[in-house]
Amino acid sequence: MEVIIQDSGDDVGRLAARIIARQLLKKPNSVLGLATGSTPIGTYRELVRLHSKEGLDFSQVTTFNLDEYLGLPPSHPQSYRHFMDEHLFSHINIPKGNIHVPYGHAEAIEQFCAWYEAEIVRCGGIDIQILGVGADGHIAFNEPGSSLGSRTRLKTLTEQTINDNARFFDSKDQVPRFAVTMGVGTILEAHRVLLLAIGGGKAEVVTKAIEGPITASVTASALQLHRDVVVIVDSEAGSKLARADYYHWVSEQKKRHLPGVEV
Ligand code: F6R
Repeated sequence: MEVIIQDSGDDVGRLAARIIARQLLKKPNSVLGLATGSTPIGTYRELVRLHSKEGLDFSQVTTFNLDEYLGLPPSHPQSYRHFMDEHLFSHINIPKGNIHVPYGHAEAIEQFCAWYEAEIVRCGGIDIQILGVGADGHIAFNEPGSSLGSRTRLKTLTEQTINDNARFFDSKDQVPRFAVTMGVGTILEAHRVLLLAIGGGKAEVVTKAIEGPITASVTASALQLHRDVVVIVDSEAGSKLARADYYHWVSEQKKRHLPGVEV
């Protein structure tokens, strides 16, 4: 696990976008795993800029989003599909048929979840998975107590997540109670994971996730088992890390002694 502490949230987004851009240059038909929420917005903004100003090509890219609220059609302004269209898909040259966002309206949820898992495999697996982390330690909608081996499935949201996400809706009552989400086991199969966190509100959970014990009570902690995770946080989200000095030291040493080696 590599932990990179950046000065600002904008720097987090720029670095994450640069890592993704490098992946697309290396493998133009990469499969990207995408998250919604406030954390990756800067990353998407930078990817859109790289596309429009520097010609970053998404024409062969395939995407799989982590999750979607149950019951919200793609056209709903608070659906994750709508969020992705607004922040990324409608600004880049990705073919619509290459985009996968769990369909929160599926009649047969179990069959849909099995199909989603099979589709990820059929596309060759996820090359880079972007993740945010919830205040309760969740990745995707894998709330505390989710099995660390879980797969794509229907999940009941916790009250904390409903409260956290109420800011996007007119009232808390409108926040869906269920979501279709990739499981922790699904996420752990991505070839590379970028865990992003911005702001002091995430400081405690980031510390638990990367320096605490591996536990289903903080599903992000399962990432400690993954062999290629890059954690990118701003200084506020990284402010409670016990090993912050070491993480800075590693970045410094790499810059100084391995200038050609990028994250
Ligand atoms: C979103 C997702 C969630 C968020 C998490 C953090 O697709 O899977 O796990 O990443 O809730 O949300 P923000 O970034 O809004 O703090």
